[in-house]
Amino acid sequence: MRVAIGADHAGFELKQFLAHRLTADGYDVVDLGTHGPESVDYPEYGAAVAGKVVAGDADLGVLVCGTGIGIGIAANKVPGARVATCNDLFTARLSREHNDANVVALGSRVVGQGVAEEIVRIFLQAEFQAGRHQRRVEKIHALEAPDAVPA
Ligand code: RB5
Repeated sequence: MRVAIGADHAGFELKQFLAHRLTADGYDVVDLGTHGPESVDYPEYGAAVAGKVVAGDADLGVLVCGTGIGIGIAANKVPGARVATCNDLFTARLSREHNDANVVALGSRVVGQGVAEEIVRIFLQAEFQAGRHQRRVEKIHALEAPDAVPA
């Protein structure tokens, strides 16, 4: 499985840890930065990872910032992205099974390395259950069309 990973400065260390662990497990990890602890702006890394996934160059994505919120909000602006901010195991699983999330966002200031690794493993291994969830995911994407949302 190809996994795109990215983070801002707040998520840099945790991203390094996760990339190392996933690579050791046999995942094909594409690290889109940031590549050091210097202050950067999370929208750039959110967009880079979501863009790779939507383009089909990665199967799933992993993002890290301080909370998982900012980078998740930004990445969700990429059409076709379904980014779930998950700082617990239950939502990590359900975000795949019900929402077919294609990117998980984590908060390095919220969870430690152990929980973060479990969240990512669960997210990467869970499968979309389709069925009744399929049409809801389709309705999410219908909202991306111009004029889809009433003024
Ligand atoms: C950076 O200080 C911090 O604001 C960022 O990592 C993230 O938590 C934003 O949502």
